[in-house]
Amino acid sequence: MVDPVVWDIGYLVSAALFILGIKKLSSPKTAPQGNRMGAYGMLLAVLVTMAKMYSEEIIGLELIAGGLAVGTIIGVWMATRVEMTGMPELVALFNGFGGGASALVGLSEVLTRVNPATLDIPTDNVDLYGTWIAIGLSVLIGCLTLTGSLMAMGKLKGGFYIPLTKKDDRGRRKWVNFPTWGPPWLNIVKGGLLVASFVLIWLMIQEPENADYIYALVGVSCLLGIVFVLPIGGADMPVVVSLLNSMSGIAAAFTGFVISNNVLIIAGSMVGAAGLILTFIMCKAMNRTLTAVLFKSFGGGGKETVTRTKVGSDPEEVAMVCDGISKCVIIPGYGMAVSQAQHAVKEFADLLEAQDVEVSYGIHPVAGRMPGHMNVLLAEANVPYEQLIEMDEINSELPECDVALVIGANDTVNPVARSGEGPLGGMPIINADKARVVVIIKRSLSVGYAGVDNDLFFEDKTMMLFGDGKKMMNELNSAFKDL
Ligand code: TAP
Repeated sequence: MVDPVVWDIGYLVSAALFILGIKKLSSPKTAPQGNRMGAYGMLLAVLVTMAKMYSEEIIGLELIAGGLAVGTIIGVWMATRVEMTGMPELVALFNGFGGGASALVGLSEVLTRVNPATLDIPTDNVDLYGTWIAIGLSVLIGCLTLTGSLMAMGKLKGGFYIPLTKKDDRGRRKWVNFPTWGPPWLNIVKGGLLVASFVLIWLMIQEPENADYIYALVGVSCLLGIVFVLPIGGADMPVVVSLLNSMSGIAAAFTGFVISNNVLIIAGSMVGAAGLILTFIMCKAMNRTLTAVLFKSFGGGGKETVTRTKVGSDPEEVAMVCDGISKCVIIPGYGMAVSQAQHAVKEFADLLEAQDVEVSYGIHPVAGRMPGHMNVLLAEANVPYEQLIEMDEINSELPECDVALVIGANDTVNPVARSGEGPLGGMPIINADKARVVVIIKRSLSVGYAGVDNDLFFEDKTMMLFGDGKKMMNELNSAFKDL
């Protein structure tokens, strides 16, 4: 039998790696190193847990090897296949798996305890209440996170694919989309389900030998996850995914209490706290309160139809406008990620800098489809970190800017947000419209993620360069070199 101190030391080292990793994530420069430290910490925690379980004869080698192999194959397969633009869905799915895993551990603990053969119900009250409350909360939060995250993933993906339906004329099968639907009375349903969950946890404590309450709790919590995410619309989805991420951590921390696993308590609490901090940062970035996101059906369901027209410019015209300027601010958005234009954007910046133009990048906190989306892409193209300027700071510079080059961004530069009305109402934006000339690269005049028409496209000072982001940037670079 191995001395338990060995396991505790292993867990302590992995917890230290998590904390140092998170610290390093706070700067883009040290973030990759922080990411690696977190991954090593997790690997160590998994290995220590496996070794501990093997030495305590809880599981055999075949199960350990099988679990590791299946998990590794699926993880590598998903990580290599996922497009950068599909990351939020993957994050939502992982959150759901995290919640589901915590709920399963809680459930198995109950089933072990209510099994008459292994009946292990603590006799003193504190332990009884503490353990059963932890089990109940890990099942409640875990199941809620699982179904809520699956809903969020489906909404981000634009629906769920049904493989059994017949293909249409264009060879595609059906997708089921979830409506953004939230009449005010749905909040009463949510409240009712939450109260019912707490009652079921209380009943579990009263009659620990009755497993029916835990099954009822699973059903009620799964339903709660669905009605929780159902009314939340597109623009608010980043906040919800981040909140669900926090909840998956909280569920894991409760599970840590259930099975007395210190590293799970530490890692779960850290994910819970970090996710909650990120949730509030994003709420602030979108000028929304968390209560408004969660309880007011809002954030864009339908999309506005654009009926106005605007004549597009060509790359040669834009190159001429950019010739001889002194300051350019590049504002990237989701379309830059879709078209993978970051390297061409960097080449354009290099061309300008060779002519002593001051170039910086205006980064909106929710540009793209995940926090830090633009930073990751631009770092990949070797854009210096110092040139990535946050929204507030770049907004003070835009009135002195000659050209604001908006590539694939829409909602994050939409002036309608300043009016306080509609799905984007009140969201702080990058004030591209304050620059002397605005160049916008996108394929059409169509709306962005929140489904709102954008007046900026139709302003006299705006030049629209219609086309795929990477293609147009390459054409602009060639035109600039030919001047
Ligand atoms: P969006 O408002 O989504 O606009 C992106 C624009 O890119 C679209 O209007 C689209 O116009 C254009 N585009 C798409 N593919 C393109 C391509 N290949 N080449 C060139 N342009 C292309 O993007 P944004 O300004 O970055 O704002 C982000 C939005 O997403 C916000 O509403 C935010 O709340 C939401 N959101 C953010 C996150 C996070 S955490 N960042 C997560 C989920 C949702 P065309 O179709 O005309 O080309």
